[in-house]
Amino acid sequence: MQRTAAHVWTCVLFMWFLKKTDGKTQDVHITCQYSEDCVLPCSFTPSGGEEIRWFRQDVLIYSHPQSTNWHDRLFMDRTSISARELSLGNASLVLQRSVLSDRGRYRCQVTKGEKTDEYFVILKVEAPIRSVNLEITRLSGYEEVKCSTCDVYPAPHVSWSTDPPTPIEKLKYTTRKMADKQGLYIMESKLKRLGQRSDLTYICTVNSSSAAQTWTASLTETVHNNVTVTSKLYSFSTWTEITSAEGQDITIPCRSPWNLQNFTLTWSFTRANTSTVICTYDSKTQLISNHWNGTAWLEPQRIQEGDGSLRLRGVHSLEHMGMYTCNISALQKSHVGQTRVDITSLRSENENLSMKSSRPWWIPLVVVIALILIIAAIIVGIVKLQNKFSQTKPSGTARYSKEVKVTVNKSEEITEGSHLTSDQSKEHT
Ligand SMILES: *[C@@H]1O[C@H](CO)[C@@H](O)[C@H](O)[C@H]1NC(C)=O
Ligand SMILES: *[C@@H]1O[C@H](CO)[C@@H](O)[C@H](O)[C@H]1NC(C)=O
Ligand SMILES: *[C@@H]1O[C@H](CO)[C@@H](O)[C@H](O)[C@H]1NC(C)=O
Ligand SMILES: *[C@@H]1O[C@H](CO)[C@@H](O)[C@H](O)[C@H]1NC(C)=O
Ligand SMILES: *[C@@H]1O[C@H](CO)[C@@H](O)[C@H](O)[C@H]1NC(C)=O
Ligand SMILES: *[C@@H]1O[C@H](CO)[C@@H](O)[C@H](O)[C@H]1NC(C)=O
Ligand SMILES: *[C@@H]1O[C@H](CO)[C@@H](O)[C@H](O)[C@H]1NC(C)=O
Ligand SMILES: *[C@@H]1O[C@H](CO)[C@@H](O)[C@H](O)[C@H]1NC(C)=O
Repeated sequence: MQRTAAHVWTCVLFMWFLKKTDGKTQDVHITCQYSEDCVLPCSFTPSGGEEIRWFRQDVLIYSHPQSTNWHDRLFMDRTSISARELSLGNASLVLQRSVLSDRGRYRCQVTKGEKTDEYFVILKVEAPIRSVNLEITRLSGYEEVKCSTCDVYPAPHVSWSTDPPTPIEKLKYTTRKMADKQGLYIMESKLKRLGQRSDLTYICTVNSSSAAQTWTASLTETVHNNVTVTSKLYSFSTWTEITSAEGQDITIPCRSPWNLQNFTLTWSFTRANTSTVICTYDSKTQLISNHWNGTAWLEPQRIQEGDGSLRLRGVHSLEHMGMYTCNISALQKSHVGQTRVDITSLRSENENLSMKSSRPWWIPLVVVIALILIIAAIIVGIVKLQNKFSQTKPSGTARYSKEVKVTVNKSEEITEGSHLTSDQSKEHT
């Protein structure tokens, strides 16, 4: 009877242990942009001769060394692993021209002899809003303001407002969202015009449900000397977060979605309710005025191409942590990008690489070793106790350790382990 109890105990412990180690390799979440190349990360400790297999929802899509007849048609010629990176323990899969149907759970399998490690990557593919258009249509017999966007995934969200404000119940609009063959959405929203009131500004706000960005388009009609003048204003706002270690160089992104000719760029820094200008650029004069000389700089060449990213040298948590705002402003278009910059303290920088890479490897290992020691101690204790009572069977220890070995194997063996226990229990009862 005592032996049965011991079996149950070991089994319970191992189930718990297996459950614990099962959660060890956490899924990595990756978001890629539609039609762009995508890297699904997977790394291992190289010792030479590893076989790599990549699966998407259990269908083999890539293997190294390559075999011929497994290629999934959808992934044919779009997947690769860099041979040079592989020798360094990087089995990341490069997936070219990602499409929406690439979304899903991927498994990277690294096999060396009897040993197989698996890593999971969950891939999301998004098509951010590239532009929003606003116009007046008279197609349906009455005047409507039409706001539209296309090739977006996931489906965009649209809302209307006016300036000066109009009660929401008076804003009558219909929105249609349709997905094309690729699964990308076309959105069209039409708002019935509110009387013939001029000087009213119609504002359409579109955001995509996952990306941290909002597009705003506004339209105003004014009448001067019986001539109607329509003016439009488009703005695009984004917000992101950057975390850096103390003393590092960082680049804060700011890219205008339009190809602008005449514009001004202003970078400002906000902390504790006070805002200061870091630098400005004017495309007409092509002059940069920099108040953070020595720390911050812009690259004039890139600004002309619409990339106003700010580079900071050797950031410090005391001086540089806060909110950075870039404002690219042109006649009808403006882009405002907000980036929150967090700087981790010096102490964590010292432990940067070793801590980051060792955390997922060492801690579970220590836990596993500790568990094995505890289990071994319990078994030895129980066996000793039994020997003390029965004073006979010296072979007991050997038999237990054998059973233990069976259960140590991976998750498939869980069922086997429980069979073992129930069989053994029957035997003894
Ligand atoms: C792994 O390789 C991919 C391309 O094969 C590369 O994009 C990625 O940066 C590499 N990762 C590391 C950690 O070197
Ligand atoms: C998108 O717009 C809706 C309605 O205006 C708002 O509730 C939501 O928070 C917005 N999402 C983002 C990411 O800004
Ligand atoms: C402009 O409007 C006024 C009054 O609304 C009208 O008397 C005049 O004929 C209009 N002029 C033209 C050129 O349409
Ligand atoms: C930009 O500014 C210059 C000089 O002020 C002007 O000649 C040109 O027409 C402007 N271009 C645009 C697209 O507004
Ligand atoms: C920022 O301003 C708000 C309101 O103006 C005030 O309540 C808050 O205390 C201020 N915070 C700091 C850090 O000054
Ligand atoms: C910025 O620094 C550079 C050299 O470090 C110097 O030549 C330049 O005059 C400085 N500009 C301002 C506005 O202080
Ligand atoms: C961006 O800059 C323009 C021109 O300098 C200004 O009119 C506008 O208010 C600024 N927007 C924000 C959000 O700071
Ligand atoms: C990480 O810290 C080590 C010193 O502990 C330093 O040599 C290395 O450059 C740091 N790496 C990064 C990416 O900061």
